[in-house]
Amino acid sequence: MAAATGICAVLLAILAAAPSARGLGRDEFPPGFLFGAATSAYQIEGAYLEDNKSLNNWDVFTHTRPGGIRDGRNGDVADDHYHRYMEDVEIMHNLGVNSYRFSISWSRILPRGRLGGVNSAGIAFYDRLIAALLQKGIEPFVTLNHFDVPHEMETRYGSWLGAGIREEFDYYADVCFRAFGDRVKYWTTFNEPNLFTKFAYLLGEYPPNHCSPPFGACNSGNSRREPYVAAHNILLSHAAAVNNYKKNYQAKQGGSIGIVVAMKWYEPLTNRTEDIRAARRALSFEVEWFLDPIFFGDYPREMREMLSANLPKFTPEEKKLMQNKVDFIGINQYTAIYARDCISLPCNIMTYEGNAMVLATGERDGVLIGKPTAFKGYYDVPQGMEQAVKYVNERYENTPVYVTENGYSQQSDNSVEDLINDVGRVNYLQGYLTSISSAVRKGANVRGYFVWSLIDNFEWGFGYTVRFGLYHVDFETQKRIPKTSAKWYRGFLAGAGPVDDQVQALKADS
Ligand code: BGC
Repeated sequence: MAAATGICAVLLAILAAAPSARGLGRDEFPPGFLFGAATSAYQIEGAYLEDNKSLNNWDVFTHTRPGGIRDGRNGDVADDHYHRYMEDVEIMHNLGVNSYRFSISWSRILPRGRLGGVNSAGIAFYDRLIAALLQKGIEPFVTLNHFDVPHEMETRYGSWLGAGIREEFDYYADVCFRAFGDRVKYWTTFNEPNLFTKFAYLLGEYPPNHCSPPFGACNSGNSRREPYVAAHNILLSHAAAVNNYKKNYQAKQGGSIGIVVAMKWYEPLTNRTEDIRAARRALSFEVEWFLDPIFFGDYPREMREMLSANLPKFTPEEKKLMQNKVDFIGINQYTAIYARDCISLPCNIMTYEGNAMVLATGERDGVLIGKPTAFKGYYDVPQGMEQAVKYVNERYENTPVYVTENGYSQQSDNSVEDLINDVGRVNYLQGYLTSISSAVRKGANVRGYFVWSLIDNFEWGFGYTVRFGLYHVDFETQKRIPKTSAKWYRGFLAGAGPVDDQVQALKADS
């Protein structure tokens, strides 16, 4: 009886909060649409130095600067996915996803970089994972670099600041194409290099912890210049890997290759021309920074004008290297935010959008842009998704888009019961999926959607204090428990409509 009352309460809350999404069904998406969940190596694998894996930048950062992580913890064990991948594949199978986005740990494959040998135990792990996925009909969607690099790259080249890392990445990508490309049909080179470079080299919150005043007080760095140098090396590393794949692997392996960018949707704070321009500029400094060179061979004009000598230049040969376009674009879209101009009015610009002279704020006249989530600055604004997809399609030649991440965070210090009854997440996911389906109906070229994340995991600077998973993880016992959102996603993927399936799933489990 108590269980039944609980079920009713959950259902009523869902119905009340997302009425427009009630009818959303899987059949509204094109055939072959990928529906999945996403993770990344450092955030879930654990197995810290096992099977010859070497130290990576996050191992070193979390061990030497625990104060840089909100709860002082690290990814040594994380979800212990390295040992529990079979259980995790089973979870995916139960969810009914047809694809899984994960990343490969560079330091597991090439512990010493290209000057050392290929670690066969590392290759064997991903071979086993890929085999288990394919056996369940789940398409692997693989990221080559999701924020983690072998520590050796830091000591040898200063990581992304040194041009030498380009050849290293090219070599690493080649090892992966050769080892896994007969089975992996979706590759992305980098995850969110536009966010990573800012956190690592502008704000100093990610390894190698570089920044300079007034952005922050790190031991070394130059917040005005280094993010752009690192980005330049990442773009050229990306280009080298794409060229190699297209020239030597694509025809025989039949896969496709892309890149993933973080993408907030910026709305002007007011209808002042300056704020309208600021919203446009924020997008340019965020998305066009990476995608314009890939599609048009150079950085956006506005960035060049504002950053002048701090923005590196592409040589003619480099421009040529960039000419191989990506087959698809991945966007990680979580939130919309207001943009306020900081050229015409003074504001605190020591922030993520600072170099664009934009202040991002969630509030207009005391009203929030959307329901806040546990993650500061991230709000539930589903219509931003449609805008973002439309923008990327229009600007970049209607190249297919995959929404490679979208998800909702909860504070870990809630009760387990509250964490599991995650009605807020169900509403959020329904809203964003409805927004994608609306974009698709109007002709947007979107081919897939991945929830971040399959399981609660190590959330970078937040450690384990926030949770994004469809599955709750008890980090003491490593037990995975489906949240209400997992049951909802399963129902949605089963195709009978979310609310009916929610009832079935809850009945089956009670
Ligand atoms: C990253 C993930 C991260 C998620 C939530 C993205 O920036 O790709 O690694 O966990 O957002 O913050």
